[in-house]
Amino acid sequence: MRIAVVGATGLIGRAVVRALGKGHEILEVSHRKARHRVDITDLNSIRSMYRELGRVDAVVSAAGAAKSAPLSQLGEADFEFCLANKLMGQVNLVRLGMEALNDGGSFTLTSGVLAQKPMPGSAAVSLVNAGLEGFVRAAALELPRTLRINCVSPGWVSETLAAMGKDPSQGIPAAVVAQSYLASIEGTQSGAVLSV
Ligand SMILES: NC(=O)c1ccc[n+]([C@@H]2O[C@H](COP(=O)([O-])OP(=O)(O)OC[C@H]3O[C@@H](n4cnc5c(N)ncnc54)[C@H](OP(=O)(O)O)[C@@H]3O)[C@@H](O)[C@H]2O)c1
Repeated sequence: MRIAVVGATGLIGRAVVRALGKGHEILEVSHRKARHRVDITDLNSIRSMYRELGRVDAVVSAAGAAKSAPLSQLGEADFEFCLANKLMGQVNLVRLGMEALNDGGSFTLTSGVLAQKPMPGSAAVSLVNAGLEGFVRAAALELPRTLRINCVSPGWVSETLAAMGKDPSQGIPAAVVAQSYLASIEGTQSGAVLSV
């Protein structure tokens, strides 16, 4: 398969690229570091990415930022940032990418455990993660040409916990998380939220 991985330079994206291995043609995309570039907050940038990549069999998004902070400290601009970046950035990868996908192709987006298991400080992150999951369930009902869409909802990744100075054994290694992206790309399901 010809697979675009957006966020290919990130922790999860790198693990997905490694897990996909040599059996596919991987198009690595990121904001600043990969061979192909996109800013998912910019519609024109997404359009030009798809023009550059040409037709693909799968689009993976392991990109998207959202801000953690106490609710009382989250301002209008913080919510706008989260909505424009992690939520609408990924939604727009789908809206503008349908034409680029070959028949039977798939989108795999990334939400996160804070959609289902919030914690203090996660209001904006939980909002966008839950929004993504709702979008994926609904969009799956309408995608044409047997296109599929799923969402991977990772728990805390071990390497991220280690980087935060926390116990990595409380998380899931990125290599394990990556297997859920493979299941989405290579399987037949659509409208699924793959929690890992
Ligand atoms: N790590 C975790 O524990 C965890 C848990 C649950 C959910 N998640 C979610 O999983 C996703 C990936 O997490 P991660 O830890 O792998 O992140 P990461 O290591 O920080 O990587 C982020 C990736 O996204 C790219 N990126 C950043 N801004 C972008 C933009 N505006 N347009 C296009 N690409 C952009 C970066 O590109 P450059 O390198 O070129 O800047 C990089 O490839 C995020 O949505 C995160 O919320 C992560």
